Amino acid sequence: MSAPITAISEIGKFDGQTVTLRGWLYNLRESGKLLFPIFRDGSGVIQGVMPKNAVPPEVFDAVKGLTQESSVIVEGKVRADKRAPGGFELDVTQVQVVQRVSEADPYPITPKEHGVDFLMEHRHLWVRSPRQASILRVRAEIVKAVRDFFDERGFTLTDPPILTPAACEGTSTLFPVDYFDEQAYLTQSGQLYIEATAMALGKVYSFGPTFRAEKSKTRRHLTEFWMVEPEVAYATLDDLMDLAEGLVSFVVKRCLERRRPDLAVIGRDVAKLEKVEAPFPRITYDEAVQMLQEGHAQGVLEHKFEWGGDLGSPDETFLAQKFDRPVMVHRYPAKVKAFYMEPDPLNPKAALCVDVLAPEGYGEIIGGSQRMSSYELLVQRIHEHGLPEEAFKWYLDLRKYGSVPHGGFGMGIERVVAWVCGLEHVRETIPFARMLHRLYP
Ligand code: 4AD
Ligand code: MG
Repeated sequence: MSAPITAISEIGKFDGQTVTLRGWLYNLRESGKLLFPIFRDGSGVIQGVMPKNAVPPEVFDAVKGLTQESSVIVEGKVRADKRAPGGFELDVTQVQVVQRVSEADPYPITPKEHGVDFLMEHRHLWVRSPRQASILRVRAEIVKAVRDFFDERGFTLTDPPILTPAACEGTSTLFPVDYFDEQAYLTQSGQLYIEATAMALGKVYSFGPTFRAEKSKTRRHLTEFWMVEPEVAYATLDDLMDLAEGLVSFVVKRCLERRRPDLAVIGRDVAKLEKVEAPFPRITYDEAVQMLQEGHAQGVLEHKFEWGGDLGSPDETFLAQKFDRPVMVHRYPAKVKAFYMEPDPLNPKAALCVDVLAPEGYGEIIGGSQRMSSYELLVQRIHEHGLPEEAFKWYLDLRKYGSVPHGGFGMGIERVVAWVCGLEHVRETIPFARMLHRLYP
């Protein structure tokens, strides 16, 4: 086949010309003397048209009865067609079957409905479906947008270790690792380490996998997830909220600019995303509690929320529904938050922290805070939280040698992808999800 090789996504540039596509048979409709093979190549999907009297008999026979997901190299003439989903069809002239999937052992995922457990068990194949491919493209776009956002604003990427000697986000979700003769853990967050690099470079971020041994099955929790964490020397809580709303609105706008066709394949109502523009509403924890208690009095929320508790999923959903863009809840009670958070000087029971709650019930996508800058108070908190002071000696050094107010936050990529794509569960937002009872494939 001598025609130029192209990707289906680029096929519009070849209208009226003959091209070569390399991919797989996604589906085949046969109606008497006419074959309609649908090809996919990873960049998109296109329908071929093969009337028996218009193609060589051996080409017709190669496609007739061809099994789903057989790999093929196809030559054909590109023809614009308004009715076609991608705007083009292919008048097939030649087909080379690279590998024919055996009839005796057919591709397990057919166009009929399958249960989620079956699909997750076949995730290595499920990722080939156009909807899953679109979700992964949106994920890649979000990752790129995040990097561009920080790179364009003077942040330096600094990668923290994955093997760590101590907890960052509570001891109940640590994954232990046997590190020769020492006890180590998979990192829960790069934060403590990028506090060190922020003191060296001013504005930094980390972006990598993080781990939490979450024993609960929820639609928002993975045991391995990707988190982007900026950390900024001299930043106040207000600076962090400005940064968070800037990041989130930038990411959503980028997806609307570059991934509309994918969002359409996924079936996302983009009108809801178009409303996501800074500034975002900011409410204190105390105001949130008041709203939750009113919700209970009106019979919308089942339980009565008591001041002092952490927000649960139904609480977050209730609060988010009051706004058409993400809402930032700041100054939670210090006792429900991590050991490293700076107390509010105006109310030491509260921490200078913020959670960003996504609209439409997607819950917390960002958690962050100002960090404690006092050496003495930090030592006290480490003890109160039952953490080994020895393992934090280096971290405490940051408060001895030129300690400054500083802060940052973490944004979970899978939760953002779930929200942007409008997905029910985070398991579809990452190529191979790791969850309680899910380590295969
Ligand atoms: O609120 P978290 O636990 O904050 C931290 O880890 C801080 N050390 C971050 C920082 O200040 N540098 O987690 C941050 C975000 C959450 O808002 C959520 O989006 C995501 O990480 N996240 C999870 N995503 C999927 N599965 C889980 N089990 C998650 N746990 C947290
Ligand atoms: Mg949090």
